[in-house]
Amino acid sequence: MKAIRVHGRGGPDHLSYDDAPKPQPGPGEVLAHVGATAIIATELTWDETYQTAAGDPRPLPIPGHDLAGVVTEVGPGVTEFAIGAEVYALTAFGRDGAEAEYAIALPHELAPKPQMLDMVQAAAVPLAALTAWQALFIHAHLSKGQTALIHGGAGGVGSYAVQLAHWASARVITTASTRHHDFLRGLGADQVIDYTTTPFEEVVHDADVVFDTVGGETLARSWQAVKDGGVMVSVVSPRPADDPAQTRARFVWFIVEPSGEQLRAIGDLIDAGQIQPVVSQVFPLAEAREAWETAASGHARGKVVLRVEG
Ligand SMILES: NC(=O)c1ccc[n+]([C@@H]2O[C@H](COP(=O)([O-])OP(=O)(O)OC[C@H]3O[C@@H](n4cnc5c(N)ncnc54)[C@H](OP(=O)(O)O)[C@@H]3O)[C@@H](O)[C@H]2O)c1
Repeated sequence: MKAIRVHGRGGPDHLSYDDAPKPQPGPGEVLAHVGATAIIATELTWDETYQTAAGDPRPLPIPGHDLAGVVTEVGPGVTEFAIGAEVYALTAFGRDGAEAEYAIALPHELAPKPQMLDMVQAAAVPLAALTAWQALFIHAHLSKGQTALIHGGAGGVGSYAVQLAHWASARVITTASTRHHDFLRGLGADQVIDYTTTPFEEVVHDADVVFDTVGGETLARSWQAVKDGGVMVSVVSPRPADDPAQTRARFVWFIVEPSGEQLRAIGDLIDAGQIQPVVSQVFPLAEAREAWETAASGHARGKVVLRVEG
C-alpha cells in the first residue's frame, strides 16, 4: 500500500511517500481503508512517534491518528463493527497511524462516521473535537450559564471548543485575530477579542473556565482572567516549574485520549446540525509534506486534511 513514513527525527523533511506493507488485523483489531486523515502539526516532535511504550524504537512509523474510512477486515473477536461500515476514530499514539491506504484501529476507538459528513470532513473531527470535549466537559465540567474563555478559537481545537461551549449554553469569549471574528460569531462566540490589539486579561476577569490552546505567555496571563474557584485547562503545556503558586483556580493539563463513545456523542451533534467541522485545506496523501508545513504555520482556520482515497 502507499503510506507516508517518517525516516528520521525532525520535521516534515523526513517524511516520504512510500510503498509499505499492508497491515493485517490481529485479534481484537479492525482494518480500515482510509478515506482521509488530518495533520497533527506537533506529532513529529513526540517520543511516541519514534518509540513504543516500552522504549523500543519504531522503525519507519506512519503518522496521522485521525482516521475516516471503511472497515475492510476485522480480527478475531471483533463484533462491534462489520465489513463495509463507515467509521471514524482517533487511533492511539505509539502505533502506526492513518497517513496510508490502510490503518488499524481498535473497536473502543471507533464510532460510526457522522452521516452528514464526507470522508474529508469526518477526518477533521476526532483529535480536535475529542480534545475540546474532554477539556470542557471531562476536565473543566463546564455547565450552562458559565463563562468560558477559549484561546485560539479559530484553530483546529478551538473551533470545536467554541461550538461545544455554545451548545452547552455557556457564555463564550474567544481570542483570535480580526480576520476570524465573523467566522467565530457564526460558530456561537458571544465575544471575540483580537489578541493582536487587546490584552484579553484587561477585558475578562470572571471566566469560570479558561481553555488554553495557545500556551506560553497566553497561558501565564490567563490567571488574571479566571475567577476564584475557576478552572484553567491547557493542552499545550503543563504548568512551568517556575510558575508562582496559583491556588485561586484549579489547573489541568492533559493529553487527549481516544474514545469511540465520545465520538458517537460528537457525531450525533454533527448530524443534528449543532456543530460542524472546519476544514482549512485539503491535500492528496502524496503531498503530506506540504500539508504538514501548512498546518505548522499556527494560523490555519480549522484542520488541514489529507485525502487518501477518492
Ligand atoms: N494535549 C493534547 O492532547 C492536545 C491535543 C490537540 C492539540 N494540542 C495542542 O494544542 C495546540 C492547538 O492545536 P490546534 O491544532 O488547535 O492548533 P492550530 O489549529 O494550529 O491553531 C491555529 C490557530 O491559533 C490561533 N492563534 C495563534 N496564536 C494565537 C494567540 N496568541 N491568541 C489566540 N489565537 C492564536 C490562530 O489564529 P490567527 O490566525 O488569528 O493567529 C489559528 O487560528 C497545539 O499546541 C497542539 O499541539 C494538544
